Amino acid sequence: MKNIIGLIQEELCVAFKKAGYDEKYAKAALSNRPDLCQYQCNGALAAAKEYHKAPVQIAGEIAEILKDSSSFKEITAVKPGFINITLDDVFLADFINKMAESETFGCDKTNSPETIVIDYGGANVAKPLHVGHLRPAIIGESIKRIARYAGHNVIGDVHLGDWGLPIGLIITETRHRNPDLPYFDEDFKGEYPEEAPFTISDLEEIYPYASAYSKEHPEYKEEAQEATAQLQSGRKGYLALWQHIINVSVEDLKRIYTKLNVEFDLWKKESDAQPYIPDMVKDMKEGGYAHIDDGALVVDVKEETDTKEIPPCMILKSDGATLYNTTDLATIVERRKLFNPSKIIYVVDKRQSLYFEQVFRCARKTKIIDNSTDLVFLGFGTMNGKDGKPFKTRDGGVLRLEVLLKDVEEQVLGKMKERDMAEDEMNDTASKIALAAVKYGDLSNQASKDYIFDMERFISFEGNTGPYILYTIVRIKSLLAKVQKEGIVIDENMPVAPSCSQTGTDVMLSLCKWQDTINAAYEELAPHKICQFVYELSDAFNKFYHENRIVNNEDVKLRNSYIKLSRLVGRVLETATGLLGLEAPERM
Ligand code: ARG
Repeated sequence: MKNIIGLIQEELCVAFKKAGYDEKYAKAALSNRPDLCQYQCNGALAAAKEYHKAPVQIAGEIAEILKDSSSFKEITAVKPGFINITLDDVFLADFINKMAESETFGCDKTNSPETIVIDYGGANVAKPLHVGHLRPAIIGESIKRIARYAGHNVIGDVHLGDWGLPIGLIITETRHRNPDLPYFDEDFKGEYPEEAPFTISDLEEIYPYASAYSKEHPEYKEEAQEATAQLQSGRKGYLALWQHIINVSVEDLKRIYTKLNVEFDLWKKESDAQPYIPDMVKDMKEGGYAHIDDGALVVDVKEETDTKEIPPCMILKSDGATLYNTTDLATIVERRKLFNPSKIIYVVDKRQSLYFEQVFRCARKTKIIDNSTDLVFLGFGTMNGKDGKPFKTRDGGVLRLEVLLKDVEEQVLGKMKERDMAEDEMNDTASKIALAAVKYGDLSNQASKDYIFDMERFISFEGNTGPYILYTIVRIKSLLAKVQKEGIVIDENMPVAPSCSQTGTDVMLSLCKWQDTINAAYEELAPHKICQFVYELSDAFNKFYHENRIVNNEDVKLRNSYIKLSRLVGRVLETATGLLGLEAPERM
């Protein structure tokens, strides 16, 4: 379905041509003076140069041609050459009715669906999710939902970190604590126990302990490195332990991601890419891309146009060990083989941007990937505390994600004390509001920017916050419940009537931005555009709600129209918040 700006442009086009000007000037945009008009065209200003005429004269000619168009209530030329446009109320209402009839509110699915892999989440086994994992999960999930809504075939992959030194550290520490376990006996021939020798809470204690200890004790670190190497070369007992670590961790990770309303299609791990490494390395050598430098195998990735130093991409260390980027390159090989995606989007901390630049260049240079696949790095900024420094616990430690969520939930519950609600519903509602507070607080910022985690502001029911948006949805839900309770039958054959108030018009104009919002959010990988949209729509709706009698309107036709408009706003808001990964409760 054509967007409203497109429809306006169609009319402008005819007029520009009729007046003898190139139609390329017939461009419309939202007005930047909403107090004067709804849309504007600046084409006359640009055309003036080509046609050597005063811009306002051209604008005047266009306005004159279109003054009787049924699409416009008002179209005027103003100095120095703007064409100010206000839509006809019937035309606007028609558009809204068409939106309401469309399942996607007029936002057509793409004609050329692409296969897109989104690498997000960034979790590692054996380490609990901490606040640093919040952003990739929230942003990645939203991008995934937006791309899917646009009609693409999207595969979300958590790409679990499971193959590096942390595993060697856990193996080493487990060995120090329980040397008699069969995993360490190289002559052991039986079946290893089914039950893991540690729980998730054990792992959460073991890993930080071992990591800290290894920093002080070089011989311990060497032991862990050796264990990592043995694991990677297939020592049976270590593989069995590693499998336990994965099982215990993944179960816990899934639980927390579910709480976050984040769902991965794939739970692939770094280790899954390992089988692709030998051939990849062989090709890199044979293709003449890789060379030995100081014992290590590297690929040069610098380019003449570089303004900063881009170091070579190391593929194998001098002892033959693989690295984080070896795995990432092999994962590209794997993804290409399994899915042949036209795009891989990495939602990762922007501090890894140089790293990904190296990996992408290396992948292209060594022909792991050709031009039919886009590699996109969506680097996100840091979530800071009120002091402007990376968010920490009060004592300076890393804050576990679960603890943070619990905290927010408790704050929300505190605000809801007065509500007359059963405990179950109260808890469920609080968790939905808390999640919306956290997610919206994050997503409403441009992903690449740092932001300040301001709990008080985020959980506020007023202002540009998640709870405010949910509140608006809940308001519409209860309005519709009232309609039903009072036995009012909505006449589906009667369309939404042309607005007779400013607030009604504003709601409609906000709704008209849906298609462009979704397209921009997808093209620019920018969930914050959806946040802007839902906030504006919520605001417009709440003003409309306060100024008009909806369910109690004596004019039955108007009542029908207002209920239908409210219902449409509710549906659009729920769809939009769904794309952000939020869920509205029934009451709040
Ligand atoms: N697990 C990594 C970390 O903790 C993030 C993974 C990001 N994705 C990737 N393909 N490298 O930093």
